[in-house]
Amino acid sequence: MRALITAGGRATRLRPITWTLNKHLIPLANKPMLEHAILKVVEAGIIDIGVNINEGDKEISDALGDGARLGARLTYIEQKGGPKGLAHIIKNARDVGFLKRGERFLMYLGDNIILGSLRHLVERFQNENRNCMLALSRVSDPERFGVPEIKDGRIVRVVEKPLEPMCDFAITGIYLYDDRALEAVDELKPSSRGELEISDLHQWYLDHGLNVGYEEITGWWKDTGKPEDLLEGNQLLLNEFRFEDSENGAEIGENVVIQGRVKIGHGTRISEKVLIRGPVVIGENCEIKNSYIGPYTSIGDHTVITNTEIEHSIIFPHCRINAGTRIVDGIIGQNATVTSAHDTLPLGHKLVIGDNSVVEL
Ligand code: DAU
Repeated sequence: MRALITAGGRATRLRPITWTLNKHLIPLANKPMLEHAILKVVEAGIIDIGVNINEGDKEISDALGDGARLGARLTYIEQKGGPKGLAHIIKNARDVGFLKRGERFLMYLGDNIILGSLRHLVERFQNENRNCMLALSRVSDPERFGVPEIKDGRIVRVVEKPLEPMCDFAITGIYLYDDRALEAVDELKPSSRGELEISDLHQWYLDHGLNVGYEEITGWWKDTGKPEDLLEGNQLLLNEFRFEDSENGAEIGENVVIQGRVKIGHGTRISEKVLIRGPVVIGENCEIKNSYIGPYTSIGDHTVITNTEIEHSIIFPHCRINAGTRIVDGIIGQNATVTSAHDTLPLGHKLVIGDNSVVEL
């Protein structure tokens, strides 16, 4: 079986980070979001993976290469004509010959992160010989998602982002299809927002009396549409992180206290008075001095942190942070500098921030 993972689209709700970085490369627990998705699919036994990217995108393939490092064989598929919807991705993958008649496939939205394994879902799809299988998850805000109407244990209708949800299930971004999907996408019409909607594809299966199964996802599921979702996703992944070989080639000074589960990368130096309270992941070749690094923080490679308290935050690579204060719930993009307003004259907050940034003073 093959898999199709999405890594295109516009990700406007994650600006300013996504002005300069594809959303799917945002690091969560110090690993690009898309790598987490690929590893889940590989773990389910599928290694032939098509990655849907925006036209002309080189960023994703530069970051992931041929996928061998992750145990996958990646084919990059440019979505011709722009991000015209999730069902359009299937149509496009068929047109370039990645999806073929006679074959079944898994589709996984690259901005979804999950805890559990996909194995059971894939096995059920195969063994029960369904035409389509959807993974569901209970959420507090179903109106943000595709929502099923379930009667007597069967899905009877699917509505995309309904104003009045029929239940508290979201249809997650994990779908399995037989090759009927390849003909169905030609019959779909663009929605009011101009996209070929995946929910319309699911409704097509139902309207044609086909066998649509579902399974509730075990463990958590997160769609990372908004900045607060990134922080929560980072937290969930750090909770599950395997912390073996925790201080792999790091230099740790005498007054450094490390509590809980902490991973520190090769070449990182931690000195003077530092308290690190896990779960925390610190990348390679960083420098940390006189600081407190609190739970649910991930720090990218080559970042320098001095005189700062930081907690529940995502710090990208190559940042310089000398804040003299406490940062919480922060998302700090690549190469950013955060310094104390007391270091230079005149006193006051001197800000150079990009469009759509959010700063609390
Ligand atoms: O996350 C689950 C939800 O995903 C489902 O409940 C909804 O039914 C489904 O429509 C989808 O809703 P979103 O509004 O979250 O989809 P979004 O536009 O964020 O796109 C999801 C992924 O697909 C993301 O990885 C970006 C990518 N994408 C999106 C479009 C529209 C593409 O690669 N190309 C596209 O044309």
